[in-house]
Amino acid sequence: MKSLCGTALLLLLCAAACAQQTSCICEKNKRVSNCRMEGNICWCNSLGSDLSVNCSTLTSKCLLMKAEMTSSKSGRREKPKDAFEDTDGLYDPECENTGVFKAKQCNGTTCWCVNTAGVRRTDKHDSDLKCNQLVRTIWIIIEMKHAERDTPLNAESLKKFFKETLTNRYMLDGRYISSVLYEKPYITIDLKQNSSERSSGGVDIADVAYYFEKEVKGDSIFLGNPLNVSIDNEKVQFEKTVVYYVDEIAPEFSMKSLTPGLIAVIVIIVIAIVAGIVVLVLTRRRKGKYVKAEVKEMNEMHRGLNA
Ligand SMILES: *[C@@H]1O[C@H](CO)[C@@H](O)[C@H](O)[C@H]1NC(C)=O
Ligand SMILES: *[C@@H]1O[C@H](CO)[C@@H](O)[C@H](O)[C@H]1NC(C)=O
Repeated sequence: MKSLCGTALLLLLCAAACAQQTSCICEKNKRVSNCRMEGNICWCNSLGSDLSVNCSTLTSKCLLMKAEMTSSKSGRREKPKDAFEDTDGLYDPECENTGVFKAKQCNGTTCWCVNTAGVRRTDKHDSDLKCNQLVRTIWIIIEMKHAERDTPLNAESLKKFFKETLTNRYMLDGRYISSVLYEKPYITIDLKQNSSERSSGGVDIADVAYYFEKEVKGDSIFLGNPLNVSIDNEKVQFEKTVVYYVDEIAPEFSMKSLTPGLIAVIVIIVIAIVAGIVVLVLTRRRKGKYVKAEVKEMNEMHRGLNA
């Protein structure tokens, strides 16, 4: 009888211990389910996909975006058909089994190609668009603007804080932080990592930048323990954070989506050329040798611009 009790007790203890061992907490990703210990590692299912994620490292940006889309869709009231929100670059991405983005992403019948950061790098096309390869983002520039203040922050403390945060909190090897620049009120962080550096293991700068951007914007992916930006014991708030991506191969945007800066340069060059032609025409006219050809040239140019 006594031994039976003992066995029962043992079984009970074991059940408790085993249960404790199988479930675990994913500190680096709050959007997971079905967490369990395997070996010394906590694995969980990423929301919105069948893939398991290793909680001892960062989850890939593609899976994070997918999980966020899933949790923002479920369990909430349907919005009116015409209601819209600023999606802040968020879409429901297609991920490979390794968690990385598929090179081609679609929304209904509209498709585009993305880089390893999941950012669109071509114009939008219809669904027969081909994206031959997933182009690597080798350089990420994070530009943050801190709230108005009279005295500048201490640049050395600030650099130390961001370098330590990126290496300790997001496990990025320090050699991929190519600079942290402070020009009050802007802080610019450059992360650089090429394909061969990436394949030697560790986290991807695109995933680090995503975790970091989310936290700076007050939307931490970590389970509890949000990032507290405190420099020389003073909490620092950010007003605006913009992230730029530089790919191994230049993006393929057509004229329509050129950046305003580039358009301005092109416009200035075109104005200069037109002015040159006008001067030419005027000088020739003064000589009494007005040539119609130049006018035709100008018209052609206008047509070229409007096309
Ligand atoms: C995807 O398509 C839907 C419906 O056409 C549209 O409302 C939404 O803004 C699109 N999302 C993106 C990221 O283009
Ligand atoms: C990647 O970067 C490392 C270190 O900067 C450099 O030695 C290597 O040649 C680079 N590889 C490629 C493919 O650019």
